[in-house]
Amino acid sequence: MTPTPDLNQKLQTLSIHSGRQVDPATGAVTTPLHTSTTFERDPDGEFSRHFFYSRIDSPNRKSLEECLADLEGGEDSIAFSSGMAASLAVFQALAPGDHVVLHRDLYFGVRELITGFFARWGLRHSFVDMRNIEELRQACRPETKLFWLETPTNPLIEVTDVQPVAECARSLQVMLVCENTFATPVLQRPLEMGAHLVVHALTKYLSGHCDAMGGAVIVGKKSDFSARIREFQRVGGAVISSFDSWLILRGLQTLVPRMRLHCENARQVADFLSTHPAVSRVHYPGLAGDPGHAIASRQMLDFGGMLSFEVHGGRPEAFAVASRLKLIVRATSLGGTHSLIEHRASIEGAFTRSPESLLRLSVGLEGATDIIADLDQALRGS
Ligand SMILES: Cc1ncc(COP(=O)(O)O)c(C=O)c1O
Repeated sequence: MTPTPDLNQKLQTLSIHSGRQVDPATGAVTTPLHTSTTFERDPDGEFSRHFFYSRIDSPNRKSLEECLADLEGGEDSIAFSSGMAASLAVFQALAPGDHVVLHRDLYFGVRELITGFFARWGLRHSFVDMRNIEELRQACRPETKLFWLETPTNPLIEVTDVQPVAECARSLQVMLVCENTFATPVLQRPLEMGAHLVVHALTKYLSGHCDAMGGAVIVGKKSDFSARIREFQRVGGAVISSFDSWLILRGLQTLVPRMRLHCENARQVADFLSTHPAVSRVHYPGLAGDPGHAIASRQMLDFGGMLSFEVHGGRPEAFAVASRLKLIVRATSLGGTHSLIEHRASIEGAFTRSPESLLRLSVGLEGATDIIADLDQALRGS
């Protein structure tokens, strides 16, 4: 279940070749960008070249979907205009009155979607700690249809053992959706651990350069449920643009080596922060003392590029540290080449689970010594 270095060799090849071919018309090696929204119909009224209107399907989106399905090991993948649009597409495939159980720490936008929009729509929900299977079982009702598990989580970097959750889902005939945005298919293989669907904010590591927005649902095995998600994509119209698809496909080509360097940099940054006197706690599963360390060591190839840390002095000191940074950029989002830092509680609002003293750090691809030097001067206050 843990991705092996051998699998990573395969992923590296797939990330460059899957969904793409040398352009038969021109011989272009890199995939052309197709901006046309409409495609010619055959004289007999057929569409022998498959495409007819870009909301329904487009060449760059199709390439991206094929590549994502191959990378996650799924039968299909359905791409959207953002990670949130992909999440929304999953929940709308349920029916009003259905019940979903979600892990208590998760991207706050999904929490807002569930407690706001979908609560008004009639979808019921419970938040539990999915690291406790008994708590998960007790939250289930006859109308429970779906478990939503993000691991590692945003922003507390909590790690949940996917397999027991998948076994519980199977025994209750509930669908398991796993958010794999932080880990990526390079580090974690949810479908192989029993998840039915994987959701990604492609905006993050998979695109990798903070210059494209997208989301995707990767389908383990096609079903009526996944057909409803596909229908929602085509009819609802929150489709990913050709240019974003093209940019993400370009970014995907370096996913494997980028993830290797993100992990290596994050490990060094976490080690540095964990001994710093100004830091009260580091949330990073690569640290031996982290509550998620044992599970992450088993379930992930490496520990990822995301970490959070808490500083002594609460909110004012967290803001002060962030304000003194010179290299690391104070900005939302993650998974790009630049290191980005964010005070999550002030972004997430009233229902945040982030401590006021917490800063989330997306460790970028700059030299680790430079990232550490910047953190050091900011934490020292000089
Ligand atoms: C884990 C996770 N899931 C989903 C999203 C939403 O993605 P998007 O901003 O592309 O809608 C984010 C955004 O930060 C995220 O961090």
